[in-house]
Amino acid sequence: EEPAAAMAVPQAGDPSLTLLRRVGAVDPASLDDYRAHGGYAALRRAFALGPAGVIREVTDSGLLGRGGAAFPTGRKWQATASQPDRPHYLVCNADESEPGTFKDRVIMEGDPYALVEAMTIAAYATGAHRGYLYLRGEYPRALHRMRHAIDRARARGLLGDDVLGQGYAFDIEIRRGAGAYICGEETALFNSIEGYRGEPRSKPPFPVEKGLFGKPTVENNVETLVNVLPVLTMGAPAYAAIGTGRSTGPKLFCVSGSVGRPGIYELPFGATLGELLELAEVRDGLRAVLLGGAAGGFVRADELDIPLTFEGTRQAGATLGSGVVMAFDDTVPLPRLLLRIAQFFRDESCGQCVPCRVGTVRQEEALTRMVERTGSGAAGDIALLREVGSAMRDASICGLGQTAWNAVESAIDRLGAYE
Ligand code: NAI
Ligand code: SF4
Repeated sequence: EEPAAAMAVPQAGDPSLTLLRRVGAVDPASLDDYRAHGGYAALRRAFALGPAGVIREVTDSGLLGRGGAAFPTGRKWQATASQPDRPHYLVCNADESEPGTFKDRVIMEGDPYALVEAMTIAAYATGAHRGYLYLRGEYPRALHRMRHAIDRARARGLLGDDVLGQGYAFDIEIRRGAGAYICGEETALFNSIEGYRGEPRSKPPFPVEKGLFGKPTVENNVETLVNVLPVLTMGAPAYAAIGTGRSTGPKLFCVSGSVGRPGIYELPFGATLGELLELAEVRDGLRAVLLGGAAGGFVRADELDIPLTFEGTRQAGATLGSGVVMAFDDTVPLPRLLLRIAQFFRDESCGQCVPCRVGTVRQEEALTRMVERTGSGAAGDIALLREVGSAMRDASICGLGQTAWNAVESAIDRLGAYE
């Protein structure tokens, strides 16, 4: 019998794609090439619609934040735009550090002007005149390309005192991270820009009200922002028709691990996990898939019919997060993998609050005992892990501590990691 035909994988640069359409097809150093590939059509439409019209389009598109938390972008923009306090700021979170996440890097390296244009639109809609691009320190090529794109855009009147001759002033400053995962947490990121230690602030107040320098701030992930371009060029109804009713538009997935073709895949929301893994040529002997990164959780090899949507993964007791899909075959020693995840959280905890500072250490100790088979046995340590994990989840200040036990818990409950 003939083998079934492999599903076609659209490559970056393929016109059938939305977010990756220009990546690989456009010269990332050339503003003219960007324009020749449709660049700046969205900003022109934004000026024609006016700030309130742009927010209406983004709201109607159903666009949800792509950093991992899926907060409605239109609601965030509206909440900032309506604040009387001035000035307003825009911050683009490009401190992409979730293990297994590398989508924002591909956009910044391959289509940097798209982010410059999208940041300009977000700032215009929300009444900001200054934007910060907080860029992961370990991304030197993205830094170089973004810096070049910002300089060229400024030289050509697409940033500065009079953007596109429309009487609107906006400029972008780049700030580099210095290797701390916690600085990707939005309020730790503000502290980092302001020159303080990268420690999260308690929320509320949310950044839309009191953010950078205590002023109303919109903070969006790179992928969220570049989605605004197709929202404006194709219009909200056409954009909302992509994906599912509650997870609209295209999504970038970062596939790695036991697959033949690791990389970034753009798919409309709603494809199943199995379909994505088939595209990535998953290897035989799949045991588990980590969804959402270290802050996410595992699903089993017999759960590949999970739809890749925010609501579908939630219903399945999993999380889509920032789009991490890490495949593990049965040669991977799970207890060691879990210990590695725990070490990561212990290392990256900022130490500000007790549940996380102490809990991540206790978690690592218990998992070390389980790998080394020392101590009184797995059952006692699993009970301890549950107790520590629920304290971290309930009482930590920020998402790092609240999610530091997710992957371990799912490995115990879904995969029977220590049976
Ligand atoms: P969150 O749910 O607290 O907030 C999400 C966004 O919505 C924030 O910008 C927040 O300010 C805003 N927001 C929430 N409630 C609001 C309200 N009532 N009014 C106005 N704005 C409101 O989640 P958080 O802690 O910002 O992000 C957690 C996610 O980050 C996780 O799901 C994880 O997957 C992801 N993550 C992603 C990383 C990456 O490299 N992309 C790294 C680490 C975590
Ligand atoms: Fe810092 Fe962890 Fe507390 Fe977050 S939960 S503030 S990372 S100690």
